[in-house]
Amino acid sequence: MAKKVTVVGAGFYGSTTAQRLAEYDVFDTVVLTDIIEGKPEGLALDMNQSRPIEGFETKVVGVTTGVDGSGYEAIAGSDIVIVTAGLPRKPGMSRMDLLEVNAKIVRGVSENIAKHAPNAVVVVVSNPLDEMTALTQLATGFPRNRVLGQAGVLDTARFTNFVAETLGVPVKSVKTLTLGSHGDTMVPVPSQCTVDGKPLTEVLPAEKIEELVVRTRNGGAEVVALLKTGSAYYAPSAAAARMARAIATDSGEVWPVCAWVDGEYGVSGVYLGVQAELGASGVKKVVETPLTEGELGSLREAAEAVRAKQADVAGL
Ligand SMILES: NC(=O)c1ccc[n+]([C@@H]2O[C@H](COP(=O)([O-])OP(=O)(O)OC[C@H]3O[C@@H](n4cnc5c(N)ncnc54)[C@H](O)[C@@H]3O)[C@@H](O)[C@H]2O)c1
Repeated sequence: MAKKVTVVGAGFYGSTTAQRLAEYDVFDTVVLTDIIEGKPEGLALDMNQSRPIEGFETKVVGVTTGVDGSGYEAIAGSDIVIVTAGLPRKPGMSRMDLLEVNAKIVRGVSENIAKHAPNAVVVVVSNPLDEMTALTQLATGFPRNRVLGQAGVLDTARFTNFVAETLGVPVKSVKTLTLGSHGDTMVPVPSQCTVDGKPLTEVLPAEKIEELVVRTRNGGAEVVALLKTGSAYYAPSAAAARMARAIATDSGEVWPVCAWVDGEYGVSGVYLGVQAELGASGVKKVVETPLTEGELGSLREAAEAVRAKQADVAGL
């Protein structure tokens, strides 16, 4: 069956995501939208011209949308919509500093998604991530399994990359995990991390693991500080595109994502970073993993921190 995916926001995150999705060659159409007149059309034209070189058939369609919702007809029939619209951080800013401005943008985008692509699975990436995911579910009114956020795939990839670089081993021999929020209460989970199947705790001293955990938690800020304008997008777009691919192909892959939890880990009623099985319905199932008492405590603390903030977004 022909598959259609829309990426809302044609900035750095959105455009690289659209390119990755097109290059997978598993979608019929990738729609890329933005409010900047001509930008999505220009990027789509450019990406389509790479088709003969990269050898993919997926068609990229660029559409300028208006604040009045004009242009959104183009997203009709999308199986998946990825929301990247919104401001990125500047050096020194926390993700939470973007809350009010991005809430306005994400609410408007969500209302248009609900109107024009009522059956889509929505993957949110705009920051602050956990709050924007909760807001998108509220504003679309979609079932909670059909709205999820991208954070854990990226945070885990950063952790894995740091461990692999530290040990000088291939990234594929390293498995790591991060749960919790996409912010200060991110919960890297060393007890579930392995290198060639050996527990990370046997391969690296505790102080080194802690150093990598801190670097992972600040992974986004480290890139922002170097770039000075804008935030990371290569690894983030890889993360969102892989999630969309898992959903489109109904793969059942388990990835760490921001998903609605309902009793897992003793936590209920909040969007939180957990592992989940992804498929055509979005989150098919939240998958619990064994945690140490300390890790479980940190995850529950993260849940309470994001719960308070997510309650605030209802009014934004
Ligand atoms: N979840 C994550 O892991 C993660 C990682 C990196 C960045 N982000 C977030 O992703 C978002 C996008 O980052 P970026 O680097 O692409 O920023 P960017 O500034 O390059 O692009 C944002 C784009 O959104 C567009 N936009 C604004 N309002 C819109 C609307 N109403 N409809 C459609 N498009 C609209 C802008 O015109 C711009 O082109 C930011 O909020 C950033 O913080 C999240």
